[in-house]
Amino acid sequence: MKKTLIRNIGSLLTCSSKISGTPNILDSMGDLSIINNAAMLFDEAILWIGKESALPDDSVYDELIDAQGRVIMPGFVDSHTHCVFAGNRADEFARRLRGVSYQTIASEGGGILNTVRAVRAASIDQLANQGIDLAMNAMKYGTTTIEMKSGYGLTLESELTLLKAINIVNKEVPLRVIPTFLGAHDIPPEYRHNPDLYVDIICEDMLPAVKEEQLAVFCDIFTDTGYFTIQQSEKILNTARELGFKIKVHADELSPFGAAEMAGSLKAISADHLLYISKNGIESMKRNGCIGTLLPGTAYTLHLPYAPARLMIDSGMTIALASDCNPGSCFTENMQIILSLATTNMGMSIEEAIMASTLHGAFALNIGDECGSLEIGKSADFHMLNTNTYPELLYHFGVNHTQNVWIKGTKVV
Ligand code: NIG
Ligand code: FE
Repeated sequence: MKKTLIRNIGSLLTCSSKISGTPNILDSMGDLSIINNAAMLFDEAILWIGKESALPDDSVYDELIDAQGRVIMPGFVDSHTHCVFAGNRADEFARRLRGVSYQTIASEGGGILNTVRAVRAASIDQLANQGIDLAMNAMKYGTTTIEMKSGYGLTLESELTLLKAINIVNKEVPLRVIPTFLGAHDIPPEYRHNPDLYVDIICEDMLPAVKEEQLAVFCDIFTDTGYFTIQQSEKILNTARELGFKIKVHADELSPFGAAEMAGSLKAISADHLLYISKNGIESMKRNGCIGTLLPGTAYTLHLPYAPARLMIDSGMTIALASDCNPGSCFTENMQIILSLATTNMGMSIEEAIMASTLHGAFALNIGDECGSLEIGKSADFHMLNTNTYPELLYHFGVNHTQNVWIKGTKVV
């Protein structure tokens, strides 16, 4: 592959953790490890990075790019999305604006089950195309790695179809796509009378089949009032772990449910949402190195209180930021908006928000040694902003600041 040198980089945000590669990444929160007047040499991986004045005279490259003093930073690692679905729920959005709650709509058979009906009626190509469109758009806003969950099929067959659609997306887009099995997203209508029976089907049929076909890296679950209980969640997550899946949890999104405590004690790689996390939940996650993935677009869309980001960071938890892109509770694939909400409404600093959406997102996907920061040997996944200073990314909000994007060293935008 050809070698490219980018020179005249005004600010290169390497986001490299001082102790990269270890699970203890607390020290990196808020430190962007910036190199000013920088240059970077790469093929699919980063070969050299530093001050331009220190570039070795004998450096060899095929292409030279002048960054004209602009900012370069790692691509966003969006570690939590539900981008593969069918239909849309704009009508529910409009009803919520008139005061009807997410839970009321769900109790009437809407919400997740609304999308489940559309997904069961869709073809695998329709599902994959939805994922491709959203991933390609996310990339234009600087996302280079994206996680995608199943969870809108809720039968063995349709969950496998969703995961296969995610697999197609992975082949069709330049982004790195990480698949997650979320069969425990909701209790399907067929098992409303006996949710435990559905839990058994997940444990005995779905998880082994997903494993057998190697369709997912993670197993996630929606542990909350009206969805899966702590006991049911523990059963599913323990089974998943025994089969070799890494674990994630939708935790304390709608109520203080004790899900963060559970995620910590099960040593989940992350617990996500955490709007209603308790002191014990923070303690348990911190003690067990469980990353808190915050999704401020969901609180924004559902008019809920934001997760207590400051409290979590000041308590020493590691925080990631992700979009939660889905047709119900948060329909955006634009990570720049998410950083904007995190800083303006959750009290995170610009530096914390950038770390949380790059390196910490990569750690939340267990690929922190591969991407998420710009260091020699890591994947050349980055974007060039149209600004000369990085605070402008959030200061001038609601517009796209991503000018060009490279993934695995190839210019894709
Ligand atoms: O992360 N909490 C569960 N899942 C999604 C919502 C999915 C939907 O409403 O379609 C979430 O908020
Ligand atoms: Fe979600």
